[in-house]
Amino acid sequence: MKEQDHAVPECSVFVGVSLDGFIARPNGDLDWLMGEGGGDSAEYGYNEFIAGIDAIVMGRKTFEKVLTFDKWYYGNKRVIVLSRQSLDLSVAQARGGVVEQMTGPPAEIVSKLAGSGAKRLYVDGGITIQQFLRSRLIHRLIISRLPVLIGEGIPLFGSLPCDIRLSHIATRTYSGGMVQSEYHIVA
Ligand SMILES: NC(=O)c1ccc[n+]([C@@H]2O[C@H](COP(=O)([O-])OP(=O)(O)OC[C@H]3O[C@@H](n4cnc5c(N)ncnc54)[C@H](OP(=O)(O)O)[C@@H]3O)[C@@H](O)[C@H]2O)c1
Repeated sequence: MKEQDHAVPECSVFVGVSLDGFIARPNGDLDWLMGEGGGDSAEYGYNEFIAGIDAIVMGRKTFEKVLTFDKWYYGNKRVIVLSRQSLDLSVAQARGGVVEQMTGPPAEIVSKLAGSGAKRLYVDGGITIQQFLRSRLIHRLIISRLPVLIGEGIPLFGSLPCDIRLSHIATRTYSGGMVQSEYHIVA
């Protein structure tokens, strides 16, 4: 490896889905997800997960949803918002967010982030996760399945050029009925 080369960052997904596979209602609502299903451990491993992340890469639609929350939940973690439009980041920045915008193919984004020292990325947003999966850039999936069917919505997964094999690492069940499974992508 040449000295200027950087290791490929580990890209992880940590997401909540309805049992029928949606991450949000068609209009983006998360009412079925918020505070549900966790029972005895309502943060269901999120705090430990996020503590191990250097930067969050999220789609513009997820970013817009996050801005409707009562506060900025990412502390001073670096957040990269993907969009082909010019975004106003000032609201997030005023809440203390360390936010920047990027655009381009997933491999380019990951390579830029590697160049700036990021080693562990959290990739979020349906379209965004699907793109990164298609580009074979995701290493780890942590999927929390809520015991609810919402019938229609924004899907977690989409079409693929070929199968992606997964290795099952662990499944945890919570008293509220949430089932959380961790998978690693088989290279
Ligand atoms: N259940 C959960 O755990 C969970 C987690 C995350 C999100 N969500 C929900 O999912 C919904 C959003 O997901 P979504 O699938 O609709 O969209 P998304 O992935 O959040 O955002 C898609 C947008 O991101 C931008 N984008 C993605 N890849 C890009 C790239 N390589 N270069 C430049 N721009 C890129 C594009 O923005 P432009 O159109 O501006 O170019 C695209 O339209 C929200 O309702 C959110 O609350 C749920």
